[in-house]
Amino acid sequence: MTTRSNPAESTGARPERQPPGQDWSSWPIYDSASLGFRDHWYPVLWEEQVGRKPVPVTLLGERIALVRQDDRIHALHDRCPHRGVPLSLGRRQFPGTISCPYHGWTYDLTDGKLCGVLTDGPDSPIRGRVSVRTYPVEQRFGLIWVYVGDGEPHPLDDDLPEELRDNTFVLGGRTEIRKGNWRFAAENGFDEGHAKYLHNTALWRLFKVMPAWNKTKVVNRDKWIVRVQEEVHWEAEMPGLGLWTNKRWWKRMPLPDAPGKAKNVNPVIASLDLPGFVSIRLPGILRVAYPNFIHYEWYVPVDEDHVRYVQLMARFETGLKAQAFKLKYLAAVRWLFHGQFTAQDAWMVDVMDAPPEKLYRPDLSITAWRRLVERSSPKVQPTEALDNKR
Ligand code: FES
Ligand SMILES: [Fe+2]
Repeated sequence: MTTRSNPAESTGARPERQPPGQDWSSWPIYDSASLGFRDHWYPVLWEEQVGRKPVPVTLLGERIALVRQDDRIHALHDRCPHRGVPLSLGRRQFPGTISCPYHGWTYDLTDGKLCGVLTDGPDSPIRGRVSVRTYPVEQRFGLIWVYVGDGEPHPLDDDLPEELRDNTFVLGGRTEIRKGNWRFAAENGFDEGHAKYLHNTALWRLFKVMPAWNKTKVVNRDKWIVRVQEEVHWEAEMPGLGLWTNKRWWKRMPLPDAPGKAKNVNPVIASLDLPGFVSIRLPGILRVAYPNFIHYEWYVPVDEDHVRYVQLMARFETGLKAQAFKLKYLAAVRWLFHGQFTAQDAWMVDVMDAPPEKLYRPDLSITAWRRLVERSSPKVQPTEALDNKR
């Protein structure tokens, strides 16, 4: 973004362009993507959260009913074409189908076709002539993944971090819906500036020093952009204010500023050869790689004001080490890191309100993410005609 004075202002005429920071017009695709991007796979719930009863979810503004048949989960548009009643309120009258609770229109779970009209008899002329939209579904890592897009979906693997495709690992995780637009959550995830201030009160960081300030650059790495630390400062004499530092006698110095620089790095993580801890990619996946585990966040758009926040932590081990990690996850990480630590992020994502904004030097991480979106030119989920279509 460039700063220039606009001569139109002094003549009283309307300026053609807003001053920098007034809006997001420098990133038009990103600006229009309040409901995220089509043609991607998104994690929504854990498999066990969908039992015999259908479960309604909203994804990119689309209302979807998740329905289980034996081991498979199906996803249908959560709206009966007859009079618009949610199919997620429906009954499981016959195997492999769902019946709308109102007049008993009955849909095949695999293709959404109206396969029976219970209140119009066996020869109902409308049978087979109406269908409800279905969505491709995959089940992976115990999660349900739904594809929102047009045409044949690409493989789920294309939307997963590459290290989660062919390696063996154990996972812990949490999913929840949080307030705020998904872009605020994504920007918060990749934000260079806040962790050393906002999170210096987090229990997860109680025994580790946070830097006082950094100088950072952002580099491209395949589908990702990565934050790389060029300078790390542990204390600073702030002019007119005094000493600023997170150092305390009870805090240890933290790990080096890139996972590969540590002494004992897990081989899978070492093979990624990451120049920094934190990376982000489309459609909104954050990867924070530590020497022995990787933390991921998916920012899944729900509607314009809510984001489904899916946190996973992977440890690339088997056997006893894997079991020990599972225990540690349940006993501590789930509460301290995926709980209290990221609840501080949720607080900010909820209360922030931008644009307008005035960006500072560390925000180059945020603008790099917005530029990544612009140059990838993903298909934006439209915001108009919300209900009938969605
Ligand atoms: S509204 Fe669904 S069957 Fe009538
Ligand atoms: Fe944070």
